[in-house]
Amino acid sequence: MSKFKQHYFVCINARPPFTKPSCGPQNSNQILILLQEEVEKHGLLNDIKVTGCACLGPCEEGPVLVVYPEGTWYANLTLEDINEIVESHMLQGQPVRRLLYDWPENVD
Ligand code: FES
Repeated sequence: MSKFKQHYFVCINARPPFTKPSCGPQNSNQILILLQEEVEKHGLLNDIKVTGCACLGPCEEGPVLVVYPEGTWYANLTLEDINEIVESHMLQGQPVRRLLYDWPENVD
């Protein structure tokens, strides 16, 4: 069993220019830092883990974030969205519906 109640994985994968899109060049490192700062600010370091990770899959929809254990996916994030995720999801357990990512039906 995990020590943490929630684990936020932020894709920080960065591909070279003029290749397939990736989250890194779209401020995902800043998103990662903002989330980590909010966890610390709210005294949640023992409950919530936030880490950067490699490609999560839906690269065209980046920046992408997934929250476990529930498996809530967010996509097309901006820095301005992070406060809403913190206030609603992280602090109140209510995912931000308008930012959720729905995987297409036919994905392996
Ligand atoms: S590069 Fe972020 S999901 Fe693939």
